[in-house]
Amino acid sequence: MLLDKTLIPRVAVEQMNQVHDTEIEILNKLYETIEKFESGEGSIEEVEQLFDEFLKDVQEHFSFEQGLMEEYNFFAYPMHRGEHDRVLMELNQLKKKFEKEKDPHLLKEYLSKIFVPWIVNHVQTMDTVTAHFLSHFVK
Ligand SMILES: [Fe+2]
Ligand SMILES: [Fe+2]
Repeated sequence: MLLDKTLIPRVAVEQMNQVHDTEIEILNKLYETIEKFESGEGSIEEVEQLFDEFLKDVQEHFSFEQGLMEEYNFFAYPMHRGEHDRVLMELNQLKKKFEKEKDPHLLKEYLSKIFVPWIVNHVQTMDTVTAHFLSHFVK
């Protein structure tokens, strides 16, 4: 397992917690698939497929939060959105590099050294503040 779900703080909007839980499940599945591939089992196609699934999930996760922030005029929307956009750009660059080099180690490095610390910190800070604000309108 790459990231234990309990390390992600719970926020004040339950739907956001559910989105985070699903993302961590896909992230862990992707990580296991990479490790399986490295030990000689499984195929690169399996890794590619799960990485695409992960990317799609991250996009949906960010769009979901952005939709709520826009709907309820969250005061720090541009800042929160900027952070999402930055990470999506990094992930798209990673996808391009991975498609060219077909080296799952690239994914493993990024996920463990950059994405995991980022998501833990992001939920702890921006998502927590955002959810607190949103919890006055949504459950
Ligand atoms: Fe989030
Ligand atoms: Fe967020």
